[in-house]
Amino acid sequence: MSPNIIEVNDVSVWFGDFNAVSDLSFSISEGSRVAILGRTGAGKSTLLNLLVGNLEPTSGTVRVAGHDPVRERRELQGLLSMAYQSPRLLPWRTARENVEVGMEILRVPKAERRERAEHWLRMVHLDNAGDRYPAQLSGGMRQRTSLARAFAIGPRLIFLDESFSALDEVTAKGLRADFVTMSEESSVSAVIVTHSIEEAFEIADRVLVFGRPARILGDFDAAEVRRKHGDNFLPFREHIHQMMVDAEKADAEAEAKSLVES
Ligand SMILES: Nc1ncnc2c1ncn2[C@@H]1O[C@H](COP(=O)(O)OP(=O)(O)OP(=O)(O)O)[C@@H](O)[C@H]1O
Ligand SMILES: [Mg+2]
Repeated sequence: MSPNIIEVNDVSVWFGDFNAVSDLSFSISEGSRVAILGRTGAGKSTLLNLLVGNLEPTSGTVRVAGHDPVRERRELQGLLSMAYQSPRLLPWRTARENVEVGMEILRVPKAERRERAEHWLRMVHLDNAGDRYPAQLSGGMRQRTSLARAFAIGPRLIFLDESFSALDEVTAKGLRADFVTMSEESSVSAVIVTHSIEEAFEIADRVLVFGRPARILGDFDAAEVRRKHGDNFLPFREHIHQMMVDAEKADAEAEAKSLVES
């Protein structure tokens, strides 16, 4: 099997005459943590939809763990999990029971389910809150529960879509650090979608900067960036920001010109 957990080859997505993804190709090696960084509307959620099999590309191929995520969805069951910007917990289940949901679907025996839920609740510092219902948890605690749930099935690949963006900066920072520890402990591969430049370079070992329509503007070794710019991140941050703004300007110009020409 391929050593890459994700392979995207010459993928384009059109919604009618709107081009959301433009001839995109990249691969992600197993065990790595890759941030997809892009401004709003860059096509990040569209890309996640392609990877989890909710959307078929107009052209090109997508492979996740060697499988076509649309046609071979069953083969990927239990291999992938996902955490979203809103935690999407079931309000009638306790935190622990929410963490157990995925394992129930995968028919993990009850005792093991309980044990694994306790472990992952401990990893997100919620060992004392397992009996509480979502309404009795703070926003940060709900997001922690959602992360524990994503890890509890023992996936090979985790997707995060803006999982930390609704939290205050201090809470988000703590949770990002926990996420890194949990990913490393379970040697899971991860794709983290975010519009936060700080978050991307803090959480990942590789950062792909996306322009709109979705295409790669830059591909960075995040550890190297942290080493070089960690003490003085602001100028580097500005550089990345400018890269995204310039690409948008160029796109807008091209679009305006094509309107005149046609
Ligand atoms: N089903 C659809 N039909 C038509 N257009 C769509 C559809 N889904 C997404 N789009 C468009 O594709 C573009 C990319 O959308 P997408 O949701 O992937 O962006 P995003 O990078 O996730 O943005 P955000 O940061 O705001 O979540 C947007 O212009 C959006 O309006
Ligand atoms: Mg989105």
